[in-house]
Amino acid sequence: MLVSSKDLILQARKKKYAIGSFNFSNLETLKAIISAGEKLKSPLIVSTTEKAIAYAKVEYLSALAQKAAAQSPLPIVLNLDHGKSLETVSLCLENGYTSVMIDSSHLPFKNNITITKQVVELAHRQNVPVEGELGELGTQSFTDVSQVRQFVEQTGVDFLAVALGSAHGVQKEEHLNLEILEEITKQTTIPLVLHGGSGLPDEDIKQAIRKGICKINIDTDIRTAFKQGLKEGLAKDESDFREILKFSIEDMIKVVEDKIKLFGSENKA
Ligand code: G3H
Ligand code: 13P
Ligand code: ZN
Repeated sequence: MLVSSKDLILQARKKKYAIGSFNFSNLETLKAIISAGEKLKSPLIVSTTEKAIAYAKVEYLSALAQKAAAQSPLPIVLNLDHGKSLETVSLCLENGYTSVMIDSSHLPFKNNITITKQVVELAHRQNVPVEGELGELGTQSFTDVSQVRQFVEQTGVDFLAVALGSAHGVQKEEHLNLEILEEITKQTTIPLVLHGGSGLPDEDIKQAIRKGICKINIDTDIRTAFKQGLKEGLAKDESDFREILKFSIEDMIKVVEDKIKLFGSENKA
């Protein structure tokens, strides 16, 4: 069933596991995520970025996710990932998203607060939780710990994405700064989110979960599996694209299963 992210993530934090937020832009990826979740009985967050929405239309993506969630025994959240404006957030709320992220982390601190606060006011009117971001990923800098308390108090966000050294995509030698994570947890009790989950060592992820991360975003590893599966499918003497795409789906299922096990959300649905 389709659910709000709030209780799921709070439960994850209490029990010290993390829920995967898996990006999708098409039917095949969504099917793979849900198959993996159902096999391992894991709650799921399925996420779309603005680019996914531009590619596949918000109406199609939300209809796919809502129908899939309605037929599934799992609690499934439909989340806007890295929303950049109030307009995108409104569009997603109109289309039944049950969680939204506003990412103004690239703006000066005060502007980040102002926009995030506006989104919180809008989304909370519809009982939809909001994730904000403090500290820009992939910039070689970390979340400024001295800003955390003020950001959380003044915006009213439900969850906070923090920059700990990961970047979107797979980079060489990616590691998390767990000392900064510890400092952040002294400043706020709201659930913390890790972006850029692909390419990080498993041990860093496990420790981050132990220290308070309870939502982890994964995109690149799924895309890589899609591409790998596509190559396998194309290597067959097959002209039915559905048969070809089955290879992509199978490879993506394996990736999502591995993440669910790593995050500890197996048998938590
Ligand atoms: O932020 C999440 C992504 O990995 C980038 O996704 O290409 O759909 O914007 P995108
Ligand atoms: P990766 O592409 O590194 O998995 O990051 C995903 C992400 O943070 C989506 O918001
Ligand atoms: Zn991200």
